[in-house]
Amino acid sequence: MEPVKPHAVCIPLPAQGHINPMLKLAKLLHSKGFHITFVHTEFNYHRLLDSLVGSPDFRFETIADGLPSTNPRGIQDLPDLCLTIPVEGLCSFRELIRRLNASSDVPPITCIISDGVMSFTLEVAEEFGIPEMVLFTPSACGMLGYLHFEDLKERGYFPLKDESELNNGYLDTEIEWIPAMKGVRLRDFPTFIRTTNPHDVMFNYNMQSVNNATKADAVLLNTFDDLERQVLDAIKTKFTNLFTIGPLSLLHRQLCPTNLDSIHSNLWKQDAQCLAWLDKWEPGSVVYVNFGSLITVTPQQLREFAWGLADSKYPFLWVIRADLVPGGGEDILSEELMAAISGRGLLVGWCPQERVLSHPCVGGFLTHCGWNSTIESVCEGVPLVCWPFFAEQQMNCFYCCREWGIGMEIDSDVKRDKVESLVRELMEGVKGNGLRLKAMDWKKKAEAATSPHGSSYINFHNIVMQLKHK
Ligand code: UDX
Repeated sequence: MEPVKPHAVCIPLPAQGHINPMLKLAKLLHSKGFHITFVHTEFNYHRLLDSLVGSPDFRFETIADGLPSTNPRGIQDLPDLCLTIPVEGLCSFRELIRRLNASSDVPPITCIISDGVMSFTLEVAEEFGIPEMVLFTPSACGMLGYLHFEDLKERGYFPLKDESELNNGYLDTEIEWIPAMKGVRLRDFPTFIRTTNPHDVMFNYNMQSVNNATKADAVLLNTFDDLERQVLDAIKTKFTNLFTIGPLSLLHRQLCPTNLDSIHSNLWKQDAQCLAWLDKWEPGSVVYVNFGSLITVTPQQLREFAWGLADSKYPFLWVIRADLVPGGGEDILSEELMAAISGRGLLVGWCPQERVLSHPCVGGFLTHCGWNSTIESVCEGVPLVCWPFFAEQQMNCFYCCREWGIGMEIDSDVKRDKVESLVRELMEGVKGNGLRLKAMDWKKKAEAATSPHGSSYINFHNIVMQLKHK
């Protein structure tokens, strides 16, 4: 008789930047013999239907997110989601665990792997006596930022006294009492501190999430030791059972068989034609532009980026999600502008980002510094122009530019001249070349961390052992 498989229930926050790393981790566990139940919200499940052809031991289930069916679920709705999912999502997650536990169709549940910002699920894990590990999908530096929210509140930095503090230089205040974050300013902290409301949903949700996670059996991070050593040491004072298992992209590439490739998690329809388009350019000559899955830009910002890219004269591949500009799209770009980029700029709605970044013709990445984008770029040795928007993207940008030497920041009030000059610097300047060399260095270190005997490789195997022998 075949031995009973260990069974992991994986539950990400229902957003692209959270689903992707969780799916990679699920596939990695599957490759080590785990039965997987992967939990989507009903809303996302229906968006993903065609890519959820699992297998008998890789299945999908759903929970409610508690939002009304008419809700578009964009960035503007994150606070709503953070109010409803810990209530309605928790109830339906409890029902799901009850049902799976009683089912003879799946092995008994060995563990729950929850997103760090879904750590309210720990309540259910505790009720059913199931071990739980949490995967925090942001960087370790971002997580350390969240860990200091309570401190910032106690020391009076949060809430802001009034709105004027957003623009009067107050955010430039240097925070000197965090040794692992030398030179960090208030503006580099996750943006949820930028409010005058002491009851701000996002501030409190994130603070509670990291505090909850102390109850988890282990905390997992999609980073590697060499990249964030000092920050990780600081986090370990709070979370003793901390495992770095990143970059998950590289570990996944190395350990996962291809038979699960058909399971993916793109919430938008991918345009794979852009890979053939990239083939026609010189190595290292194309700028890749993508602002991730959540942020929105104004028509004016879109135009400034477009003119800046056009004036740089470099070829570029730019992902303009259908919902990137609320109420508009590439039609916002004038005929004159389209003529200026014609032949050199390819605009698509969604692309296979990791394959794009690994394409030899891509020489730089204009990014919002979402953690997945940042670490995926590190994996390919591609330097960055950073335009952080919200959450811990500012912290990622700070580390890219100040610590890791792989990026240059562009002002939030973006202007076409600056886009043009930074893109040129990135692609042909002395500084750009330095960033590229540094990025290649980090790529090698990332590969070492995920190779046999590397820190992330060993940590992943330790987790597997820990879970199998619970
Ligand atoms: C963000 C960030 O994770 C984080 O900074 C913050 O906590 C809030 O959420 P997102 O904006 O989606 O998420 O950015 P990112 O973390 O970069 O994740 C985007 C993911 O989608 C990446 O894995 C990327 O490869 C993928 N993607 C993006 C595509 O496959 N194709 C695209 O066209 C765009």
